[in-house]
Formats: sequence, C-alpha cells, structure tokens
Amino acid sequence: MTQNYVLPRKFSSQTIATHYAFVSKFYDLWALLTEDKAVKQALRLSGIYDGIDILEIAVGTGRLFTKIVAHNPHGRNEGIDISPEMLSAARKRLANTSATGWTLQSGSAYDLPYDDNTFDLVFNTYMLDLLPEEDFPKVVNEFQRVLRPGGRLVLVTFGFGKFRFNRFWYWVAKTFPALLTNCRPVQVNGVIESTGLRIVQTEPVSQNTFPSDITIAEKRDW
Ligand SMILES: C[S@@+](CC[C@H](N)C(=O)[O-])C[C@H]1O[C@@H](n2cnc3c(N)ncnc32)[C@H](O)[C@@H]1O
Repeated sequence: MTQNYVLPRKFSSQTIATHYAFVSKFYDLWALLTEDKAVKQALRLSGIYDGIDILEIAVGTGRLFTKIVAHNPHGRNEGIDISPEMLSAARKRLANTSATGWTLQSGSAYDLPYDDNTFDLVFNTYMLDLLPEEDFPKVVNEFQRVLRPGGRLVLVTFGFGKFRFNRFWYWVAKTFPALLTNCRPVQVNGVIESTGLRIVQTEPVSQNTFPSDITIAEKRDW
C-alpha cells in the first residue's frame, strides 16, 4: 500500500443518500469544527467578484453558497445537489437572507443540467471524497465542460495532510467509514490535468487536525 492510497468507496450511492438525509441536521456543526477554514480560504483564493456566472455543485446545507451569493448579488448564482434534505436546508438558509439572485435545484454532478462554457467559477467542496475514484474523470470532465474558457474550478477535498497528526483521519476513514459517511482522503491533481484544466494553485489546510486540500484550476482559453 502506498502512503497516499485512496481507499475504495465501500457504500452504495443509496446508502450514502440515506446517510445525508440524516446528516443534514448536524452537518454544519461538523463543518464548523473541521471544514470551514478551508472553505473560507477557497472563497478568498477564488477571485470571486460581482456580476459573474457561478455554479456550486453539491451545495449541501448552503454554507458556502450563501457567501457566494453575498459576493455576487448582481450575477448568476446556481446551486445543485443530489440530496433533497441537504437542498431543503440550503433553501431555508438562503430564505433567511435578503438575497434574491440565486437558484437551487436537484441534480447530479455526473450529468450537469447546464450548457457547455456557461460559468466563470465552479465550486465543489467535499463531494469527490464520496465518489468512487474511477468516476472522477467523468465528474471532473463535467466541471470542465460547463466552465467558460478562462473560468476557474475551485475544489476542496478531504486530503491526506502534511502533518503526522492529520493521518488520524485516514485511519478513521479506513476503520469506521460510516462515521464519515464513507468520505475518505483523495488526490485529484492527476485527474484535473487529464481533463485539460490547468492547476494554478494548491493549498493544504488543517483545522483541528482535519486535513483538506484546496485546488484551483483554470480552463484554457484556446
Ligand atoms: C460532504 S457534503 C458537502 C456539502 C457542501 N459542499 C459543503 O462543503 O458543506 C457532500 C454533498 O455532496 C452531495 N452529493 C453527493 N453526490 C452527489 C452527486 N453525484 N451530485 C451532486 N451532489 C452530490 C451530497 O448530497 C452532499 O450534500
């Protein structure tokens, strides 16, 4: 086994959907303790500005989407997720703001309901960690397809971490996969570049020992 061996996805999509129906109730607390730091840093590095076309894939409870909409009040803000329960939490959260320029819909990252070359920014946080590794090329290719030339993909994933203590989470993912809804550390650089996107920045982030990787990639405009 190599040091950064990506664990197989053990659970079926149906089992994971059932987990998320339950997890939607307390996901924000988990995220506050482990993921918020990386998500905030990814938003800062994204180069977001007002008046552009943005898609977030796998919006979850809408914690990032709310911030995206606040930064882009005069632009187009689209969000999609496969879980009705997570989407419902996201809708409630957006409804509690005064923002109006947003759309949330049900759908899958495998088959995005958007035309080619539509978005300036595509965000995806902590979703690839859930998918079988053999599906990464198809899904990342969808991200690439809907981006405009010159547009940017902003990805945050469960990482392996650069510190020894980060390895604790690899052990949890391996030993108790249900505790993390079968999320596990992944590596995405190879697959991103294989779709023709150019990686412009990567940054590991550790929050309360939990390791994340931020990856920003650009769609070539030729
Ligand atoms: C770990 S949560 C992350 C949610 C959110 N991105 C965040 O960082 O708070 C994973 C999300 O991915 C969604 N998801 C899983 N598979 C998906 C797919 N094929 N297409 C769209 N969303 C998916 C789940 O429903 C869940 O909301």
